[in-house]
Amino acid sequence: MNAVLDYIERNKKRFVDELCQYLRFPSVSAQPDHRADMAACAEWLAGHCRALGLEARVCPTAGHPVVVAGTRRAGRPHYVVYGHYDVQPAEPFELWKSPPFEPRLEGRSVFARGACDNKGQNLAHIKAVEAYLKTNTELPCDLTFVIEGEEEVGSGNLQAFLQANRRELACRAVVISDTGMPDLKHPALTYALRGILACEVTLRGPSRDLHSGIFGGSVDNPAMALCQMLAQLRDKKGRVNIPGFYDDVARLSAYERAEAARIPQTAAQYRKFLGVPRLFGESGYTFVERRSARPTVEINGLTSGYQGEGSKTIVPSSATAKLTFRLVPNQDPERVRKLVLRRLKELCPPTVKMEVRAGHGAEPYIVSPTSPLAQAALRTLREAFGHEPILMREGGSIPIVTQFKKVLRADSLLLGLSLPDDNAHSPNEKFSLDCFEGGIRMGALLWRELAKL
Ligand code: BES
Ligand code: ZN
Repeated sequence: MNAVLDYIERNKKRFVDELCQYLRFPSVSAQPDHRADMAACAEWLAGHCRALGLEARVCPTAGHPVVVAGTRRAGRPHYVVYGHYDVQPAEPFELWKSPPFEPRLEGRSVFARGACDNKGQNLAHIKAVEAYLKTNTELPCDLTFVIEGEEEVGSGNLQAFLQANRRELACRAVVISDTGMPDLKHPALTYALRGILACEVTLRGPSRDLHSGIFGGSVDNPAMALCQMLAQLRDKKGRVNIPGFYDDVARLSAYERAEAARIPQTAAQYRKFLGVPRLFGESGYTFVERRSARPTVEINGLTSGYQGEGSKTIVPSSATAKLTFRLVPNQDPERVRKLVLRRLKELCPPTVKMEVRAGHGAEPYIVSPTSPLAQAALRTLREAFGHEPILMREGGSIPIVTQFKKVLRADSLLLGLSLPDDNAHSPNEKFSLDCFEGGIRMGALLWRELAKL
């Protein structure tokens, strides 16, 4: 083990250079213009794994390819390591201090789109395995990396990929670093994720934009109608205002609430960090619980009418909103989709036509935080970061985790390396080099602990 940890210490500078190479690919899965960049990034990653001595291939899917890289199979306990090489769109570009795909080192951080979500985190696991392979240290486990290219758009093609490869991927558990930790003194094991349901609502009014002086008042305004509808999806107290929405929501146990209270941040610090005049949310829950264990509705995008400089006096012909609902155990995205549709139909006035396009959906995920697997993870975190780890629920979603359970019958071990101020999905995304190095050590120590189970 010392040889492995020494290797990591000696090579950490180069690891950062390699992370920067990885970050240079604008692998934005949502934007068709980046198709070729996606393929190039997948090829680079597979090539990189091969150079370390892993067997690697780029597997085509109906969407972006999946990179599969594995150690020689030697009958040791087999684990899958999952991650994603796709990133969120970098817009708005003007808010970046340096271009999003030209990684910049400043202090102990590297800034680039995808730095924490998720390239830095999955590369940490790859570097840990490199340390074993390059020091001829026997890995205690057989490992298969599955690094996909569609996580940020809902992982729509990965389920079929898992089905088709389920013999090869059969494993004891899936290890994922794609979540967060509160700070370096509180490494975290995440035991629950929220699910998600996305949809796009368009209201159509007049067949063209109209002069608002000549026609306004005699015809409904789709932007106004949409705002009135959306405003009724949530009440003043932050509860989703859709009949039946809360029917299946599981209550938080006293144990979970106590764990959530250990997170080292006060509401006042959190408010300041977000730059809001006051926090918001469902009464009866702390901000930690609200953002991780309670369901929500959010408007992610809202478009209508004239968006350029100055004014333009029109009644717009249409208005569109992109919505997502975050779901918690035991809500079912399919059932919620029906409830949402019914509510939207009920709210839509007869003066406009409504179209609702369903987007991606993912089920919420929860796993025992006290299993032997979780205990092994907690031991590893303690050793890698030198601090007592905490148990967390996270509000984000990783759509494929419930499929790992269904198709591979494998639980996911969520060992997040991202910090709250890493700006995931925001301008100036970064990854802390301390998290990167700690993550590589964690990756190295983990296999010894997991092999013992
Ligand atoms: N890494 C995140 C998920 C995450 C972030 C989980 C922080 C917990 C804490 C992942 O890349 C992500 O952003 N997922 C999307 C999925 C969606 C597009 C289907 C999300 O949660 O918005
Ligand atoms: Zn993400």
